[in-house]
Amino acid sequence: MKDIFTGKVVWITGASSGIGEALVKAFAHGGSRVIASSNDNTRLKKVADDCAGLKGSVTFVPFDLADTSDIEEQVRGIVSQEGRIDMLLNIGGISQRALLKETPLWLDRKIMEVNYFGTIALTKAVLPYMIAGGGGHIAATSSISGRFGFPMRSAYSASKQALHGFFETLLIEHRKDNIRVSVIIPGRVQTSISLHALTADGKEHGKMDDGQKGGVTAEKAAAQIVRGLQRNKREIPVGSTELLMLKIRKYFPALFFRIAEKIKPM
Ligand SMILES: NC(=O)c1ccc[n+]([C@@H]2O[C@H](COP(=O)([O-])OP(=O)(O)OC[C@H]3O[C@@H](n4cnc5c(N)ncnc54)[C@H](OP(=O)(O)O)[C@@H]3O)[C@@H](O)[C@H]2O)c1
Repeated sequence: MKDIFTGKVVWITGASSGIGEALVKAFAHGGSRVIASSNDNTRLKKVADDCAGLKGSVTFVPFDLADTSDIEEQVRGIVSQEGRIDMLLNIGGISQRALLKETPLWLDRKIMEVNYFGTIALTKAVLPYMIAGGGGHIAATSSISGRFGFPMRSAYSASKQALHGFFETLLIEHRKDNIRVSVIIPGRVQTSISLHALTADGKEHGKMDDGQKGGVTAEKAAAQIVRGLQRNKREIPVGSTELLMLKIRKYFPALFFRIAEKIKPM
């Protein structure tokens, strides 16, 4: 990693596993002061322990994206402890494995709460400190299915598509304040995302899907993300050949819909 992130305070959600965990390690390796958040204290501690001896430091702060009632207090606490927040990487999220007609509305709301409202609540709480500090970089994690509909992902796709609207507006309104904004768009990454994906009854899917199994590693995904952040990319596609679907959706929509109807969603 280039040393532009050395000494920077980088807050990463979704830090206990997968892409977030790999990013914590990459930034700690590069000398950043990482704040690692998720719901799982035990796993966060393990991630922080794994980083002992690296150039940077890792402090873990439990944070539930589904309950942001005390978010402003939490952010104030981090700022008084670290002095500032230079970068916020919103990585945490949950997926879905249920047909639209079988997904109860409470589940749509739950997925929206974690992926969309949790992410924007944290972003809104951090933003004033970044502006007051002269700028910063905020990233959110969408998905290729945040660029198109996808079978068994109605709520997931909707929650990710909503992020694009919010974060593009953030960039338009705050570029003048030196706020950089990147939206990360992963295709398939080998993580536990499908294991924890919610089914129609709200239980975890519990299976590693072929899509994730055949994806790039979390470490490779993290390297692609770091490169995109260094170059201040507005959008950072992450993955391999599956990213072609983004181009097919954009330039050949009729073909996209024919493929998407036949796609194996698990
Ligand atoms: N893997 C892929 O193929 C893929 C594709 C497209 C997009 N993505 C996106 O990439 C991001 C990272 O996912 P991943 O693939 O690395 O999956 P993962 O290994 O399952 O990691 C998900 C992370 O989100 C955290 N999280 C989930 N619910 C949370 C909550 N209520 N509060 C706080 N943290 C919560 C989890 O932490 P705890 O369980 O410890 O709370 C975990 O750290 C997600 O936004 C996902 O939608 C992944």
